[in-house]
Amino acid sequence: MRRSVVRALSRPLVLAAAAAVLPLVSAAPAAADSIVIGGFPVDVSQSPWTVALSSRDRFGGTRAGQFCDGVAVGPTTVLTAAHCLDEEVLSGPVEQVRDLKVIAGRTDLRAREGREIAVQDAWVNPDYDRDSNAGDFAVLSLAESLPENSAIQMAPAGDPAYEPGTAAVVYGWGDTSGTGDYATGLRGARLHVLSDALCERAYPGGGDGEYRAESMLCAGEVLGGRDACQGDSGGPLVARGRLVGLVSWGSGCGRSGSPGVYTRVSDVLTKLGWGTTARAPRDGA
Ligand code: ARG
Repeated sequence: MRRSVVRALSRPLVLAAAAAVLPLVSAAPAAADSIVIGGFPVDVSQSPWTVALSSRDRFGGTRAGQFCDGVAVGPTTVLTAAHCLDEEVLSGPVEQVRDLKVIAGRTDLRAREGREIAVQDAWVNPDYDRDSNAGDFAVLSLAESLPENSAIQMAPAGDPAYEPGTAAVVYGWGDTSGTGDYATGLRGARLHVLSDALCERAYPGGGDGEYRAESMLCAGEVLGGRDACQGDSGGPLVARGRLVGLVSWGSGCGRSGSPGVYTRVSDVLTKLGWGTTARAPRDGA
């Protein structure tokens, strides 16, 4: 019983699932100044690669159906988190979500600006491990091209953007307090890439999620306060102008000693066989 509660707290949860199975999420202490926790408003023109994942059918229309985020890495290619497309999140298999879309170019989810583009194909990493959360990524192929210059470059292995101490920004429309205050406007939070050693200590495994340096990246502030949170999953962590992480999981939001854990983008490149191109192949450019 206790184990399942501990597991649940550290499990990736999108907002609907969080509300449904995890009332305890609200027991997490709200961060001091609460993005995204500890964040600031962002106009999407400053991060055009950040897109919202939407299904009004499954998540209702008040926030345009937003339930996770994604990152444009090519004209018709978007990366997101595997757990975003879980059956328990979507109340069924992803193929059955008829109105799965990405929303690009819209800062405020209540506005009409930007474009909504249908997802033609969703490929979920078959090696995604729900126990450790390793391999938390999926690739969405869009029915139409995103506006020009929406895509961000991915940082290949060895890129200095991965070095601990590097300044980074996470973007998203997720919870801004840890208590279910989902943003309507896009937000960002300034963080730093943290060392693998720190994250291994924070998440040694044994029921509380497990940090795996080869496939995960850890970012936040040593004292907490700035972090991604529920609803930000799949969204970008950007350092030196390149994509280094996808929002994946964490224990609570913004807590000191429990940094945010991200899918390591260099590992995604390797696993997808995209090499060090920093661009989605099959997708021009
Ligand atoms: N799993 C969450 C989601 O689905 C993201 C959690 C990130 N948590 C954190 N403390 N950085 O939206």
